[in-house]
Amino acid sequence: MIFPEFKWWIYMGQEPGQLVTINDELKFALLAKIDDRSASVGVVGLGYVGLPFAVEKAKAGFQVTGIDQNEVKAAQVNRGENYIRDVEDEELREVVKSGQLHAVSTFDTVSELDVLVIAVPTPLTHNLIPDLTYIESVARELATRIRPGQLISLESTTYPGTTEDVLLPMLEKSGLVANRDFFLAYSPERVDPGNRTFGTKNTNKVVGGVGPGSLEVAMHFYKAAILDVVPVSSTKTAELVKVFENTFRAVNIALVNELAMLCDRMDLDVWEALDAAFTKPFGIMPFYPGPGVGGHCIPLDPHYLEWKAKEYNFNTRFITLAGEINRKMPEFVATKAYRCLNTLGIAPSLAKVLVLGLSYKKDLDDDRESPAYDVIRNLWKEGVTVKYHDDYVPIATHPEFDLQSEPLTSDLLQDTDLVIITTSHTTVDYQFVVDHSRLVLDTRYATKNVARGKEKIIRL
Ligand SMILES: NC(=O)c1ccc[n+]([C@@H]2O[C@H](COP(=O)([O-])OP(=O)(O)OC[C@H]3O[C@@H](n4cnc5c(N)ncnc54)[C@H](O)[C@@H]3O)[C@@H](O)[C@H]2O)c1
Repeated sequence: MIFPEFKWWIYMGQEPGQLVTINDELKFALLAKIDDRSASVGVVGLGYVGLPFAVEKAKAGFQVTGIDQNEVKAAQVNRGENYIRDVEDEELREVVKSGQLHAVSTFDTVSELDVLVIAVPTPLTHNLIPDLTYIESVARELATRIRPGQLISLESTTYPGTTEDVLLPMLEKSGLVANRDFFLAYSPERVDPGNRTFGTKNTNKVVGGVGPGSLEVAMHFYKAAILDVVPVSSTKTAELVKVFENTFRAVNIALVNELAMLCDRMDLDVWEALDAAFTKPFGIMPFYPGPGVGGHCIPLDPHYLEWKAKEYNFNTRFITLAGEINRKMPEFVATKAYRCLNTLGIAPSLAKVLVLGLSYKKDLDDDRESPAYDVIRNLWKEGVTVKYHDDYVPIATHPEFDLQSEPLTSDLLQDTDLVIITTSHTTVDYQFVVDHSRLVLDTRYATKNVARGKEKIIRL
């Protein structure tokens, strides 16, 4: 392989006034390793994002090391045991068996890797402030171990500026300079858990780099296993793209949630209205109301942008309002549940309610930030006895909730005053639920196709 000899000078944004040279030798060496798949890839964080990504990269021919501080997960991966539904069991087994993927729970081998992708959590504190402790902890581990010629790419969702203002200075404590000695990029993960049409490979990916060398290397790396890669001019822009995408969803969900509350007052069926509205072939996009928003994205990510905007004395009013409306939904559902119980002449403190669905989204086992928990919390406040059923979440993982899924039997339904459908898993027979229930409050339109017992169904 012949490497061009020339070097060029560029201005680096992270150190005002500093001029650095792109080390072409390092760059072309890494590009070549990516091309012939001899580049070894480390994926830090083997969760909903990291594990599917690691499998995809292993399938593309890279030698992949998963690094997760959770020893149980690392051991599961090494046994070929899958714990993420978006990953095919057989695919994981195959890449582990063939030696393309293995997992460790320490950072000891970082210097042996050519590419490091970081996919660790980015939660919010109780006061809706970004919590970057996971990213910072990884950065500290990497700073003592990185070597020239590596690409480091952050994939965790975060506010614009994290890569350049937080990660970069921590990594440069190693004495290495980004875009000269190592390459640093931000490329947001867009995985949509449970989506059978769009997975890691066929969902296009946005990439921003710290300097042109970083962008070039990162583009090359992502193109190796993803069909379409979209470059942007900076890591800040790439970070903004991701938080905007989820803000777009949060705001539109809030809009239909607000409409649902208005329809309740006006005694109109919001679902019928939306079904009709979404027949328009242009200028509209389907979003549906529900008991609130959950998961690791929609309830959190917009507040990363909201927090950052305050630094610029700017209030992101749509984000604030959407958060308020979406967080209000569980309380609204509980209030509607009391009205349902009232029609049966049952006081909340004497009522037995079954919450049907604990995960935040249908056909998924992820109950992080699930609004179903807030619905239960609200019901508990009024003394309601609550049980839940969810085959995807056999035991409630939230520390405040000592609950286990009850088998969905006719006896359970008959012994319940009100069923609240909080997640519309397609595995549930909703006709069976309605047949054996006294009353059903459907917050997800799961009973749309139920033929008998419509008089027992009350919709959000
Ligand atoms: N879940 C989604 O649908 C989704 C979609 C797009 C983007 N994201 C973003 O991707 C990031 C990761 O989310 P996730 O859902 O995969 O989280 P997750 O909790 O499923 O996985 C994170 C993993 O990181 C590990 N980890 C935490 N700290 C670590 C450390 N210091 N060193 C090594 N491993 C560590 C955890 O043990 C865990 O296995 C978040 O920023 C999230 O916002 C998530």
